[in-house]
Amino acid sequence: MSQPLPQTAPRTEATKAALEAVYNWNYEPEIDELRTLYANALERQWIAVRDLPWENGVDKQAFAKTFSMAGFPIQETQFWKDLPADTQWEVARRSAAFLLSNFLHGEQGALMVASQLVNAVPHMDGKFYASTQTLDEARHVEVFAKYIDGIDHVYPIMPSLKTLLDATLGHGTWLHKAVGMNIVVEGLALFTFRDMRNTTSEPLLKELLTYVSRDEARHTGFGVKYLSHVVSEIDDAQEAELEDFAFEAARLLIDSRSGTTMRQSALALWAEAGHDPEESLHAIVKERMTVKKEMGRTGGFAGPVRGFVIPTLRRIGLFSDRIAGHFMEMFEANLGKERAAQLDMEIAFPEDLDAWIEGGASTAA
Ligand SMILES: [Fe+2]
Ligand SMILES: [Fe+2]
Repeated sequence: MSQPLPQTAPRTEATKAALEAVYNWNYEPEIDELRTLYANALERQWIAVRDLPWENGVDKQAFAKTFSMAGFPIQETQFWKDLPADTQWEVARRSAAFLLSNFLHGEQGALMVASQLVNAVPHMDGKFYASTQTLDEARHVEVFAKYIDGIDHVYPIMPSLKTLLDATLGHGTWLHKAVGMNIVVEGLALFTFRDMRNTTSEPLLKELLTYVSRDEARHTGFGVKYLSHVVSEIDDAQEAELEDFAFEAARLLIDSRSGTTMRQSALALWAEAGHDPEESLHAIVKERMTVKKEMGRTGGFAGPVRGFVIPTLRRIGLFSDRIAGHFMEMFEANLGKERAAQLDMEIAFPEDLDAWIEGGASTAA
């Protein structure tokens, strides 16, 4: 007798997905760039349980000393350095688990969207590539779940991220799926993974993020290479619709008016760790020059949308003056008109993504 399968309820939740499955009867290579990405993906597969140093566990001291809160370099402030080591660890592990949990949920969304793309993209080279991304994303779900297990527990998904994943899974056209996932969600993720990777000195996390970021660079590369071709061929109305979808996706994740942002939620966890977030913020504000300098160095200052998503949208031809206006309105509402006017909106897309990941200082500085 075989064992019964584990119960899925109440852990599962259904959403209405949509796609049009497309056959392609041509089996000859058609788009060299995508065929190459597929070949690279096959070359660069890795096995999480074998290739990462899990046996050493998490180095708590290194983790707490070099913890970066999604681009905010709190670890460089005197305030942070003066906290007792156990408080640093408590605050860092909870905030990081919250952040990594949302990455984990995002990875599950990516796993499902990538598998949809296997069906929905019209070119065989695109289907080949998307099948490799599906496997990559399964591995990312595996590694983030395993790492979180070593520091805390998995936190629930943020409502805004859930809304975005639902919208991407539920949209009927592959173009919207690729824009929502490969450009916006994965752009934000790649920017943040890179920041965390370059800031942390916790060996397991650093190595894990190095592997994951290389995969994500390929996923962004797919979006950029494929969509650049397609966007140049669609009409203005379709282009505007895709721009709106991209803007709404980014807005959901970073606009403080869309609910609770990741940073706000992370600060709430400080209270749970026995530390008054108001008091901490006050102390940090006093050290704003240190924070500003450090953010300029790591690229966190630009943030993932201005530092990466907008450059990507511009690169693929989905950043018209009309949509640039929407982004500017959002920045003005979040930062005030004066600060928004000083923002550098011309950050270039890093063409060599692998080199960009390795680089400590980004072009966004
Ligand atoms: Fe991923
Ligand atoms: Fe990905």
